[in-house]
Amino acid sequence: MCFNGDLRGKKVLITAGPTREALDPVRYISNHSSGKMGYNIASAFLDRGAEVILVSGPTDRHLEARRLRLLRVVSAAEMLEACRPWFREVDIAVFAAAVADYRPADVAPQKIKKDTDEFTLRMIPNKDIAYEFGRIKAPGQYAVGFALETNDELAQATGKMNRKNLDMVVLNSLNDAGAGFGGDTNKITILTKRGTKEHFPLKSKLAVAQDILEAVVSELVNNSQAAGHAG
Ligand code: PMT
Repeated sequence: MCFNGDLRGKKVLITAGPTREALDPVRYISNHSSGKMGYNIASAFLDRGAEVILVSGPTDRHLEARRLRLLRVVSAAEMLEACRPWFREVDIAVFAAAVADYRPADVAPQKIKKDTDEFTLRMIPNKDIAYEFGRIKAPGQYAVGFALETNDELAQATGKMNRKNLDMVVLNSLNDAGAGFGGDTNKITILTKRGTKEHFPLKSKLAVAQDILEAVVSELVNNSQAAGHAG
């Protein structure tokens, strides 16, 4: 049956917010993500009737809804493990979280003392959640990633789309005033695997979330019609 844009009965996995990578019991490495972008995307999909699994790093955001399962995590490794059971079940995955690429190689069991002139931290890579999903993505599943860039934005975003087997990438650049971390607005460019590129003006994060949802729905309708014609 052709997909007509109705999201009722569709399952959507969304990651949101930062992750925290512990150094010792009192310190961690993190980033400036507030969770606003990911939570607004969750709201947009819920409003359109989808069932949402929102895996969130530490934020002060709140969201409650009948069709929402909110899983709160702290580290990148926890975020991956919370997502993993849903990978094969969902129709759409949106990776909006700013996940730490590295974590401290060793977590000190006690507070690290200030008793040396120099302190060197060895970091090891975290697994990439979007990449892990992309590796096992089934033909009917649709994956959306984000790219937050400071330079060579379009090339970086396209590289991420290809490496992580994403169908769509939402580029936000820290060179655009009002875009990216923390604030209530964002300015995005949506790139698709088909090679399309659409620039959007600065908007509230809720309006941006709705633009992303509409872009995903339109791609799914097109894919479904193309499959119908082929079949
Ligand atoms: O939370 P806000 O304050 O509202 O800010 C929103 C945002 C700026 C964080 C968001 O719009 C955004 O751009 N999120 C992704 C930021 C990022 O860190 O991108 P990246 O280039 O590191 O990662 C690329 C993609 O891979 C992203 O979809 C990311 O979620 C995913 N990824 C990255 C690393 C990792 N270990 N696992 C992942 O899934």
